[in-house]
Amino acid sequence: MPKPDEQELVKDLYKVLKINDRKLWTIPAANLYPHQWLWDSCFIAIGLRHLDVDRAKTELTSLLRGQWSNGMLPHIILTLGSRDKEVERGYLNPYSPHDVATSGLTQPPMLAEAVVQIGKKLRSAERRTWYAQMYPHLLSYHRWLYHDRDPHNEGLVLLLHPYESGLDNTPPWISEMRKHSMPWWVSAIESLHLDGLVNLFRRDTKQVPPGQRMSNVEAAAYWAVLRRIRRKAYNSEAILSRSLFSVEDLAFNCIFIRANECLEQIAKAIGKELPADLGQRIKKSREALDQLWDDQHSEYFSRSFVSHKLIEEPSIATLLPLYSGAISKERAQHLVNMLKKRRTFGASWPVPSVPLNSSYFDAHKYWQGPTWVNTNWLIIEGLKRYGFNEEAAALRDRTVEMVAKSGPYEYFSPLDGSPAGAENFSWTAALTIDLLKS
Ligand code: GLC
Repeated sequence: MPKPDEQELVKDLYKVLKINDRKLWTIPAANLYPHQWLWDSCFIAIGLRHLDVDRAKTELTSLLRGQWSNGMLPHIILTLGSRDKEVERGYLNPYSPHDVATSGLTQPPMLAEAVVQIGKKLRSAERRTWYAQMYPHLLSYHRWLYHDRDPHNEGLVLLLHPYESGLDNTPPWISEMRKHSMPWWVSAIESLHLDGLVNLFRRDTKQVPPGQRMSNVEAAAYWAVLRRIRRKAYNSEAILSRSLFSVEDLAFNCIFIRANECLEQIAKAIGKELPADLGQRIKKSREALDQLWDDQHSEYFSRSFVSHKLIEEPSIATLLPLYSGAISKERAQHLVNMLKKRRTFGASWPVPSVPLNSSYFDAHKYWQGPTWVNTNWLIIEGLKRYGFNEEAAALRDRTVEMVAKSGPYEYFSPLDGSPAGAENFSWTAALTIDLLKS
């Protein structure tokens, strides 16, 4: 295949960001995702910084309008007047803001990374001003993550809903949900084969073929989890006192470890010192990642917060310790071998969201098979960090080729690179721009 004309491609991708631009933020995709999402805006800013650094900054500062007074950053800031306000009901929690409607969940903490990536595009005085503006917000966000989501000071933070992982229906979450949070009525619907009824209430399957989204049973069970934690007004202590469904998610913790490093970098650049207690917890997190390693499988897994049992289901998260930067060179080499292995992640259009030999694998099904550009970006960063430059360049080239051939869709079949999910998807466009311009 001829190499895509990179300049033309950047222009086309930028058009996607313009289509989804809502002046102060960018929606992930029209119709399917009409609000502002937390980690989407971070990925979008990482791409936008090459074309319009001020707009990239605005993408991130607009996230702060949703920040709760306890530091929490919600995973969605809803578009004014949307009916989804009554689905999310972030307002039930006393810390939520009064002037915007938000969800009561969070999402992977990519913000510090995005702040630093923008910083790389600024002269040093401007960079310091930028960092000083963002620092207090990042500080209270990271403190909230420890205070609220690591109640036993283990070094690993917990999540209360699969949507918080950003990898919604990846196998570890589905298997844990089936064990601990399957409402009787969803089991009944499933065993009576009535799950088609759930479609009547779903909006996503009206936009995208149902075979490319999560199943009706998964969607109904996730809805039930949301309702349960919403009833507790998103108070994590109250939720945890009654629930076994809580996960120390591997991907989230890897991203948090890296984010903490970015926070340290930001603090240093503006001559601040992180509070001592935070510094200690950050150190502990780097060490705690090792607890998610399983000797028997030679793999990292997510872990149940309650039972402390590893959830032995591989997924794209398996490779993200590379991005954390907190593992040994030997472990990194081991993950690179897995990345290349044909039976697991070595697909024609890598990297599949679950290994090819997983019983969950389905080439077009959301987080149960397809290749996503954001996780490719994280893996590329991780490869570079450990000096696997050839592998990073190969994955970068193949990702660009896939997007050039199929268009900026939400995800792609790892078998033939064909597109699936939403069209004109913002983070696919933005991160491909970043891969082309970095
Ligand atoms: C889906 C993805 C999530 C993303 C959101 C908006 O829910 O699973 O990671 O943030 O869409 O694009």
